[in-house]
Amino acid sequence: MVGKDITKAIKFLEENDVIGFPTETVYGLAGNALSNQAVTKIFNVKERPSFDPLIIHIGDKSQIERYVENIPESLWRFIDQWMPGPLTVLLDKKDVIPDLVTAGSERVAVRIPAHPLAQELLSQIDFPLAAPSANPFGYISPTTAQHVSNQLGDKIPYILDGGPCTVGLESTIIGEENGNIIVYRKGGLSIQEILKMDDTAEIRTHSTSNPAAPGMLKSHYAPNVPLIIVEDYSTSIGQVGYITFGEKVQLNSGSIQYELSRSKDYAEAAQNLFKMMRDLDRTDLTRIEVKLLPEIDLGIAINDRLRRAAVRS
Ligand code: TXA
Ligand code: MG
Repeated sequence: MVGKDITKAIKFLEENDVIGFPTETVYGLAGNALSNQAVTKIFNVKERPSFDPLIIHIGDKSQIERYVENIPESLWRFIDQWMPGPLTVLLDKKDVIPDLVTAGSERVAVRIPAHPLAQELLSQIDFPLAAPSANPFGYISPTTAQHVSNQLGDKIPYILDGGPCTVGLESTIIGEENGNIIVYRKGGLSIQEILKMDDTAEIRTHSTSNPAAPGMLKSHYAPNVPLIIVEDYSTSIGQVGYITFGEKVQLNSGSIQYELSRSKDYAEAAQNLFKMMRDLDRTDLTRIEVKLLPEIDLGIAINDRLRRAAVRS
């Protein structure tokens, strides 16, 4: 069921059940992070391999040291500046966080979502919420309650509806190694903002050989209709879904164009991307064509998601 009833949402969480919950980045599939039963349910509902760890969500900075220790000064600066927000930080976990949440890692990923409904929910519970994006493993992350309902609606008792996500891309994940800031996943907080805070931050490319690092699995965020990255949009016969960025395409009959942002606004493009990929994942289209955006601002994270969604030859 989809609704806006926080009391109901909390009742399910307290019973170790899992629910859909809104954040400003994407919707999460949330359960009590301190409960092995709830966390196991998250992995099952999502059909996610248990070696892929979960982010814990808390309401306020004042709670952070209940769950983690040894926070380096360099990361406090990011926490103070960007939390709540689209940033997740990897920190040394305390024993209270189950190993199941971190897939055995000594570090746990912590996020404080800024979404008002998420904030209200988190302020009323005394446990953190473990939550991956609320999509079946490998598919596009959901940015509306309806997206969650379409795919997981029959597996979970409740989806808290907070409206469409305003950021639209998953959080940026950072941590510290040997005194250096490392970006493990490009996301809703742009790389420019990270570099403004620390111009020596290192951006790690994802690798499949290191499943302990975030967002690492190669094919991800992918629609069922093949998504192809092109240099120029094809105008040949075929029913094509075009995703564009401030550009008009000559359409064949049966083809369709979705514009990420007419005014080439990166935040607007990020907000629209996953919804448009989903809406174009239709059986009457033979392929989706998209051009990469300029590698600046949120274009960097958008291109990362497009490359992961694209079919490989
Ligand atoms: O915006 C977001 O971050 C959303 C919302 C719901 O908060 N969540 C999200 O979760 O995208 P998920 O599980 O789909 O992606 C989290 C990524 C995964 O790739 C996981 O491998 C990585 O974070 N991760 C989580 N905990 C980790 C840890 N302890 N060490 C390394 N990577 C971790
Ligand atoms: Mg995900």
